[in-house]
Amino acid sequence: MNNNAVKKEHLLEIKNLRKHFPIRSGFLQRQTKLVKAVDDVSFFVEKGETLGLVGESGCGKTTTGRMILRALQPTSGEIWFEDANLGRVDVAKLDRRQLKHVRRNMQMIFQDPYASLNPRMTLLQIIGEPLLVHGLANSKEREEKVGELLEAVGLRPEYMNRYPHAFSGGQRQRIGIARALTTQPELLVCDEAVSALDVSVQAQILNLLQKLQREFGLTYLFIAHDLSVIEHISDRVAVMYVGKLVETAKTADLYARPRHPYTEALLSAVPRPNPRARTEPIILSSEIANPANPPTGCYFHPRCRYKTAICETEQPPLEEVAPNHFVRCHHAKDLELMGTGEMANGVVAQ
Ligand SMILES: Nc1ncnc2c1ncn2[C@@H]1O[C@H](COP(=O)(O)OP(=O)(O)O)[C@@H](O)[C@H]1O
Ligand SMILES: [Mg+2]
Repeated sequence: MNNNAVKKEHLLEIKNLRKHFPIRSGFLQRQTKLVKAVDDVSFFVEKGETLGLVGESGCGKTTTGRMILRALQPTSGEIWFEDANLGRVDVAKLDRRQLKHVRRNMQMIFQDPYASLNPRMTLLQIIGEPLLVHGLANSKEREEKVGELLEAVGLRPEYMNRYPHAFSGGQRQRIGIARALTTQPELLVCDEAVSALDVSVQAQILNLLQKLQREFGLTYLFIAHDLSVIEHISDRVAVMYVGKLVETAKTADLYARPRHPYTEALLSAVPRPNPRARTEPIILSSEIANPANPPTGCYFHPRCRYKTAICETEQPPLEEVAPNHFVRCHHAKDLELMGTGEMANGVVAQ
């Protein structure tokens, strides 16, 4: 019983999700290789929380996000979503009609809102469009709703008759957020939503997302490569490397005491305001592994300064090394890695 109660709070639960892209080449277009863009990824997102998904470019973050919304069909795996009307459904297996329904409850926000905002449409048309698609409102209601949404994202309702080109980058991201909120979704997948913005504007948009989360009880899967951004907004963090999760933990735990050498290296490059707290960033030797031709053993071993013989031959499983702290590293229990908090204090946390 108790177990069920805990499970119920998971708005989203992904199990063994995989996306393998075939690469074809040559005259006969034979399949020569397989890019394992997402390879056996499992995680959950609790109702009302923000899970940050972080990792270097090409590690499979966007592919994961797109599969959750079924913009991309998974190769295999399950995507359990607690839909307000349909109940718990596996998004990977829904038919078109069910999918259309579920998509009202999960929306995506992109890095470049301008690319996804039709320049020939006014804000009223852009933000009101999902209402039309889902047959949700007549024209007067639509106008009212769009006005409310503009206010919610910090724009003036009078702007609804203007076109996207009249707005700055930060304002356009607000428009993108307003449009994502039109259908009153429960889950927002934000893919590098602030990555293209100046730092000061980034902070405004992150604060707006947090305000909207409180107001509307939203749940976020927040995808980014920037660890400062992830730290600011996430309750928990999942670190991805070459299609696999390598570490997941509560944000404070992960930043204070990372347990995976890859996470430690990423954190060492995060700028800290206190110059005394700075340590030298860990330079990762060699390039990120190629998902079409990953190394043997632990995918991270060619770049890892703590590697031993076993790392070259055996792939480590994702294991719980502290409460709710999961790590994919043979040496996670022995290593004393450095987090950002430790750098600030100059002491190594136990
Ligand atoms: N349609 C596709 N066909 C082949 N490979 C792809 C395709 N989409 C993404 N990939 C590859 O999958 C990997 C993960 O990509 P992506 O999910 O975009 O990473 P991220 O968002 O973390 O930067 C990359 O190696 C990328 O080149
Ligand atoms: Mg991406």
